[in-house]
Amino acid sequence: MAIASAAAAAAAAACRPHLAGAFLLAIFFAGAATAASISGAESSCQRDNSVVKDISQMPQGSYGLEGLSHVTLAGALAHGMKEVEVWLQTFGPGQRTPIHRHSCEEVFVVLKGKGTLLLGSSSLKYPGQPQEIPVFQNSTFTIPVNDPHQVWNSDEHEDLQVIVVISRPPIKVFFYDDWNMPHTAAKLQFPIFWDEECLPSPKDEL
Ligand SMILES: *[C@@H]1O[C@H](CO)[C@@H](O)[C@H](O)[C@H]1NC(C)=O
Repeated sequence: MAIASAAAAAAAAACRPHLAGAFLLAIFFAGAATAASISGAESSCQRDNSVVKDISQMPQGSYGLEGLSHVTLAGALAHGMKEVEVWLQTFGPGQRTPIHRHSCEEVFVVLKGKGTLLLGSSSLKYPGQPQEIPVFQNSTFTIPVNDPHQVWNSDEHEDLQVIVVISRPPIKVFFYDDWNMPHTAAKLQFPIFWDEECLPSPKDEL
């Protein structure tokens, strides 16, 4: 991939011979990209396309979110999924996702524990006071497209473990600071934390 992008960069520079400096710069960045992809090989993004994968051997991390364990079971960037992506997530006692929304469908299956789904409104200008909906082991719930929400392990003792299925990966999430933040002010997070190490190197503009 790095070689392809170096070639593309060279081709781009060749189209604009007056940009000799840009060409050198492109070579420099191609070198940097190569270094990044070498370190990427040791990152948590393993492009493993075997049919059956042992979940306990798959990359797992908290990706900067306290009390979270995330595994991408089947992902767009890691495994080439086109229509859906599936995660296994475990939240420690008291942990919550950020308040967020996305324009894809999302289905949860609660494998273990219990918690609270906080669901805001997409029809007001801001999420507003969320509904508090209890979720429990062996329950399933879906998040309406674009509804701001937060999953909270409201139990003080046990982990909450869920399977999450999203459509249209890779996910583009908008984060809210609080339930009164206008939808238009929510901040885009793309790629989502666990996709960062799996992103292909940026394409050169031609
Ligand atoms: C979840 O519900 C299904 C359908 O009733 C049942 O077969 C299964 O044993 C339940 N699993 C757990 C962990 O309670």
